[in-house]
Amino acid sequence: MAHQTIIVLDFGSQYTQLIARRLRELSVYSEVWPPDTPAEKIRARNPIGIILSGGPKSVSDVGAPKCDAAVFELGVPVLGICYGMQLMAHALGGRVEPAPQREFGHATVTIGSSCALFAGVPAEIRVWASHGDFVSAAPAGFAVVATSANAPVAAMEAPSRHLYAILFHPEVVHTERGLEILRNFAYGICGCTGDWTMAAFVQEATERIRRQVGGGRVVCALSGGVDSTVAALIIHRAIGRQLTCIFVDNGVLRLNEADQVRKRFERLQLPLVFADASTLFLDRLAGVVDPEKKRKIIGATFIDVFEAEAAKLGQVDFLAQGTLYPDVIESVPIVGQAASLIKSHHNVGGLPERMRMTLVEPLRELFKDEVRVVGRQLGLDPEFVDRQPFPGPGLAVRILGEVTPDRLSLLRRADAVVADEVKKDGWYTRLWQSFAVLLPVQSVGVMGDERTYEYTAAIRAVESKDGMTADWARLPHDLLARISSRIVNEVRGINRVVYDVSSKPPSTIEWE
Ligand code: XMP
Repeated sequence: MAHQTIIVLDFGSQYTQLIARRLRELSVYSEVWPPDTPAEKIRARNPIGIILSGGPKSVSDVGAPKCDAAVFELGVPVLGICYGMQLMAHALGGRVEPAPQREFGHATVTIGSSCALFAGVPAEIRVWASHGDFVSAAPAGFAVVATSANAPVAAMEAPSRHLYAILFHPEVVHTERGLEILRNFAYGICGCTGDWTMAAFVQEATERIRRQVGGGRVVCALSGGVDSTVAALIIHRAIGRQLTCIFVDNGVLRLNEADQVRKRFERLQLPLVFADASTLFLDRLAGVVDPEKKRKIIGATFIDVFEAEAAKLGQVDFLAQGTLYPDVIESVPIVGQAASLIKSHHNVGGLPERMRMTLVEPLRELFKDEVRVVGRQLGLDPEFVDRQPFPGPGLAVRILGEVTPDRLSLLRRADAVVADEVKKDGWYTRLWQSFAVLLPVQSVGVMGDERTYEYTAAIRAVESKDGMTADWARLPHDLLARISSRIVNEVRGINRVVYDVSSKPPSTIEWE
C-alpha cells in the first residue's frame, strides 16, 4: 500500500533525518531524498508534501546545493526550513544576506499574523536557530508571518502557491511547539490523515515478505542485537519455518550473553542454529595486538563459520538482514560522517557478496526508534529493546592489546559491574553506551597489607544521538565511586579504575 508521503530534500543539515523521524512520530510516512532530485521524479512519487531541510552552506556559495526550481511549481505544499527557506527566497526573487547578528541557539520568534502553519501556537515562542544568513526581503507575493530580534523575516508564506518557510528548526526539541508546527504543515496544510502506524507496517511487511520469498528458504544472521532480532521476528511471522536463524558465539560476548541470546530465541520460538565458535575465534586472535587486524580476523572468521553453518542447511535462497533506513538514505555527507570510515566495521558486512543470495531486508524503511516499537509489538521484552548498542567485534575492541581468556574474564566481570550500577542508578537508558575497557597496563596498588601490581579498567560512558559524535557523560561521582569500589573489590586482577573524559571527536567511543 502506498502511504501518504512527505519527501524531505536534504541540503546537508545534521537535523535532516530528524525531520523525517518527527513526521513519522506524527504517523506520516517520510523519506529523505537527494537535494537535486528532478522535480519530475518527485512528481512521479506523488508526495503529499515536500520539506526543504537546513544545511551548512550559504545559498550564494559556489557549489551550494540547490533544488530543481520546478519543485516550487508542482502545486504540492513546500515547507522550507532554515537553509531551505533561504533557498526558497533566493530562487523566487527575495533577498538573502549575511545577517548582521547571526543566530545560533535559542531565539525568540514573534508570530505576527494568523496563518495555517502556526495554528494554535502562541504569539511568542522560543525556537532553535542555526543560521548565519537571513532573508532580508521576502519574494514578491509572500507575506511575512513572523519576525525575531535578528531576523526581519523569521517565517513567510504564499498560501495560494502552497509555499511556506521558517528560519528556525521545528524538528529540534529546543523549539517550543515545534512538533505542532510540523503537524500543522502535515495535517493542516498537506492534508495528511496519519496512515503510517507500526501495526500497519508489520501487516504490510509480512505480506511483502510472503510475496518476495514464496516457497523459498531464508537464512538470517542474528547478531544478538535489536535489528536482526526484529527482522527475524517479522520474517518468522511471515513464513514460519522457512526461516532459519544462525547465531555465532564469537567468544568475545559479554558475561552470560550467549546464554541469554539462546534463551530469548527459544522463548520467541525462532528456529535457531547456535554455533559456538568461541575457541576458533580466540585461537585466531591469539597473539594479535593490532586493532584493525583483530577486527578483520573477527569479520573473516564470522563469515567462515556462518557459511559453514548455512551450507549444512542445504538449499537456501535468501539472506535476511536488519538494514535500517539511515543505511540506505542517499544524501549529502554531513560533517562527521567520514568518521565512520576510520574503523572497519565487520558485522555481517561482506556476506551478501560472498553468498550470492537475494537479500530480504524488512526494516529498510524504518528508523531505529520505529524498529523498537515494532519489536515491542512482536513481543520483545522492553529491557532488550532499549539496550545500548554493542559492536560486532565485541569485547575484542575493549581489551587493548592481545585478547586472552584471562583478560576476557576480567573485562566481563568489570563490565557487568558497570552495567549493573548504571542500570540501578537509572542512567542506562539516558546513555548511548556505558561499558568497561581493560587496559593491560599494570600499576601498583595496596590491598590489605599487600602490594598489588595489576591491570586498570577504564570506564566509558557517553551521550550521543547517533554514535557519530558523542560527549562523555557527567555521571554522578557517587555512581562512579560505587562502580570503582565494586570492580576493585570483586574483580581480582584489576586494582585501578579510571574514567574516560574524552569526547568524540577527537576520540572515538570504542577504544580500538
Ligand atoms: P566509534 O568507536 O567508531 O563507534 O566511535 C561508534 C559506534 O559504533 C559502534 N561500533 C561498531 N558497531 N561493528 C558494530 O556493529 C563494529 O565493528 C563497530 N565498531 C564500533 C560503537 O560501539 C559505537 O556505538
